[in-house]
Amino acid sequence: MNRKPISQVPIGLDPHSNEPLYKQLSKALIEAIEQGQFDTTELLPSSRTLATDLGLSRNTVNLALQYLMSDGYITSVARIGHMVNPEFQAHLDDTPRPRIEHLDWESRFSTPRSDEGHVWKPAGWSSYPYPFIAGQIETAMFPTKSWGRAMRLALTEEHAGTSLHDLVDRDDALLIEMLRRHILRARGITARPEEILITLGSQHGLGLVATALLNGESTVAIEEPGYPDARHMFRSRGATIQALPVDEKGAVIPSDLSNVDLVFVTPSHQYPTNTTLSIGRRHALLNQASRDDFVIVEDDYDSEFRYLGQSTPAMKSIENSGRVIYLGSFSKFLAPGLRLGFVVAEPTLIEHLRDLRRYQLRHPPGILQRALALFIQSGDYNRSVRRIRNVYKEKWIAMSEAVEKHIPWPVPIPTGGLSIWVGGPADFDATTMAELAIEEGVVVEAGGPCFVTPPIPRNHFKLGYASTPIGAIEPGLAIIARVIDRLR
Ligand SMILES: Cc1ncc(COP(=O)(O)O)c(C=O)c1O
Repeated sequence: MNRKPISQVPIGLDPHSNEPLYKQLSKALIEAIEQGQFDTTELLPSSRTLATDLGLSRNTVNLALQYLMSDGYITSVARIGHMVNPEFQAHLDDTPRPRIEHLDWESRFSTPRSDEGHVWKPAGWSSYPYPFIAGQIETAMFPTKSWGRAMRLALTEEHAGTSLHDLVDRDDALLIEMLRRHILRARGITARPEEILITLGSQHGLGLVATALLNGESTVAIEEPGYPDARHMFRSRGATIQALPVDEKGAVIPSDLSNVDLVFVTPSHQYPTNTTLSIGRRHALLNQASRDDFVIVEDDYDSEFRYLGQSTPAMKSIENSGRVIYLGSFSKFLAPGLRLGFVVAEPTLIEHLRDLRRYQLRHPPGILQRALALFIQSGDYNRSVRRIRNVYKEKWIAMSEAVEKHIPWPVPIPTGGLSIWVGGPADFDATTMAELAIEEGVVVEAGGPCFVTPPIPRNHFKLGYASTPIGAIEPGLAIIARVIDRLR
């Protein structure tokens, strides 16, 4: 920027304004300084010159200059006059400073960046007419009124101590109580308060567990296809990944897992196939954990969404070894944007995770915790889950019919969950299909990132339907069918 001497900077003053002239002058000077209009190597004109030039009294000018001095815009140079404060000027400088060194950040990272596939959700997915995107919700389904009520109540005097104060490493005792009474009990889990930690979504819980238990020597067994975000978190700890194949009964449990430190499973609805881990395999995995001395992370992110038959009890509810670390989430029943979840595990582990959490972010926002506690206590949570489950059941029926009608291959329809996993013939390219579909307003997720063993298959895709308006299901599937046809 070309800066001018102060004498050339126009300063307009209005003698008829109600605002005193010294204030008008100081405002005009501040504006000019903030816009970087002054040549900062020059002294400001003396108060006498300014007064003469602007037709003001010297008192008025001196008052304005004092004001600027006290706010740090200008400094006085002993016995000579005033200048724009060079410290202030440094902030204004808009020309980037030339780089004289190249910093190799990658070599400083404590863990390598993974180049394996990530789950991809395009920004602005909700503006597409046919979003078959997983892990999102239709915003119209969120219980806005009752959640708003809970948030307002959380701010009243009675609750503000939890909502607004620093809880340091503690959680909201009321939320813990509500979880125990209304959520965990429904899943067959009994847990004492010291066995529960509130997290920013279940992903945060998983990150804490990975930090606590894994390092470069560790081996983690995960389902394949499986949840890419979990794999990335384990990799970021330097852990080695071992794949467990998945069939119609969920993860296949090998007879020897003695080399493994942790097994990550999604027993209620296997991610991404939505199969349920059979009761026999659950017991087999628990027995094996004791025999081979590993721990199990049970990611139970959407067990409420079962449309046929009964929800299976959580693995955590049938174990007595303390080896199961249970992850829960409010992303599916409420909204992923709230970022609320929890971990249930042995007190010693919870205490350690609490310490890790404290020095990372202290605690999840008190206001969200208390609002959720009040939301559950009022009965609104259970009402909302029942209503949302009914809507999802209708969508599940519409999806099952549309998939059967339009997808040219046999597709297993799961009895629960919020997505359908489609596998085409080996030479089908779902990544290209997804690219072509988005041009027609249809968003689908190609399944490549769910695999870990090369060569990564390209023939799977995932149709999430929680966020899909019900009226978009049939026409959206018809478009997918046309794109598939074109590719074949
Ligand atoms: C397998 C799996 N686990 C957990 C979650 C929920 O994560 P969070 O609670 O961090 O939103 C998701 C959401 O997409 C998921 O797909």
